[in-house]
Amino acid sequence: MAIKKAERRLNVGILGCGPIAQFAHFESAVKGRNTELHAICDVAADLVQRMGDTYQPHKRYADYAEMLADPALDAVIIATSDAFHVPASIMALKAGKHVLCEKPIAVSVEEAEELAVAVKASGKVLQIGHMKRFDPGLEAAHDFVKTEMGELLAFKAWYCDSTHRYTMTDAVQPLPILSKTAKKPAGDPKADKRRYFMLAHGSHLVDTARFFCGEITEVQARLTEKFGAYSWFVDVSFANGCMGHLDLTVAVRMDWHEGLTIYGENGSVTAKTYNPWYYKSSDVEIFHEKDATYRRPLGADGHFYRRQLEGFADNILDGKPMRGADSADGIASVRAMAAIARSVESGKPVRLSDVSGFI
Ligand SMILES: NC(=O)c1ccc[n+]([C@@H]2O[C@H](COP(=O)([O-])OP(=O)(O)OC[C@H]3O[C@@H](n4cnc5c(N)ncnc54)[C@H](O)[C@@H]3O)[C@@H](O)[C@H]2O)c1
Repeated sequence: MAIKKAERRLNVGILGCGPIAQFAHFESAVKGRNTELHAICDVAADLVQRMGDTYQPHKRYADYAEMLADPALDAVIIATSDAFHVPASIMALKAGKHVLCEKPIAVSVEEAEELAVAVKASGKVLQIGHMKRFDPGLEAAHDFVKTEMGELLAFKAWYCDSTHRYTMTDAVQPLPILSKTAKKPAGDPKADKRRYFMLAHGSHLVDTARFFCGEITEVQARLTEKFGAYSWFVDVSFANGCMGHLDLTVAVRMDWHEGLTIYGENGSVTAKTYNPWYYKSSDVEIFHEKDATYRRPLGADGHFYRRQLEGFADNILDGKPMRGADSADGIASVRAMAAIARSVESGKPVRLSDVSGFI
């Protein structure tokens, strides 16, 4: 593959050489039309060596503060466990670097708000790794919703992980290189499954809902747990008056099952989204009421991880509009996840403006 590089490129440093960096971010920075893999950093020396030899960054670091002190570095991608997202983002912003941080941006409402304050004070860009916003099929649907669909009547979205998911992903992903000296948060983030599934998967579902329909004001959620599966059904009220329903189920006894339906004044949208590691754009059908015609975009370039990094660089280098999720989106998503958790506990509707604390 010939990579066409722009003359002006964003010098990117990647914090964390673990699986998500190996599966998505190293290649994105190397192949990105307007990005340069300037540096990589991990406390695990074996990972830095292997990834450095493979991807050939200009610099290699074991110490994050040292990477941030590099004047040639423009931006960091934070590819670490959830618990480190906010502290690592704040360190980078204080060092004058732009940040693309993996989702979920934070694990509590207060943490998300603290980060938003730091973003504002820094004047730097912070984008959250909600790469589905860069899925070309969903982008086409989003354009239609924003420009032609008129008033929105109802929105349904589902994100259902599959019991066969690791068989699928093991077949297509490279073997992850792991290290015994990788830095991990205290405790096991996967111990509390309700919390873990909401942070890992619910964060995508809530962001997708907000991407299409805007602010969520209130949720009422139910959770059923049976045979090791967890299923959340969430009634959602959007500020624009659209009625919403979210289904988060981990895991369904069938194929990966993700998608959405939107009914609007001037048309409808349906989307089927694939497991991200197939790098395949969502199958989207956009129905235009005016000529009773469906449009089905191909979305040939399904590398949404690279596309999100290129969008991040477009915004920083050329002042193009931010297309990803920003810190305000991050706070709103964290509030929505916390509200879903509180509503499950109380059995009552919960307004997002009333929630605080951990998800
Ligand atoms: N967007 C997506 O589709 C998607 C998919 C999977 C995972 N993720 C996100 O990716 C993150 C998990 O990534 P992972 O599985 O690669 O994590 P990991 O914990 O396995 O690896 C992170 C690496 O970062 C290093 N590290 C952490 N803090 C450091 C520090 N201060 N200094 C130097 N090195 C440090 C660790 O040593 C480790 O090697 C989660 O937030 C998850 O939600 C996103």
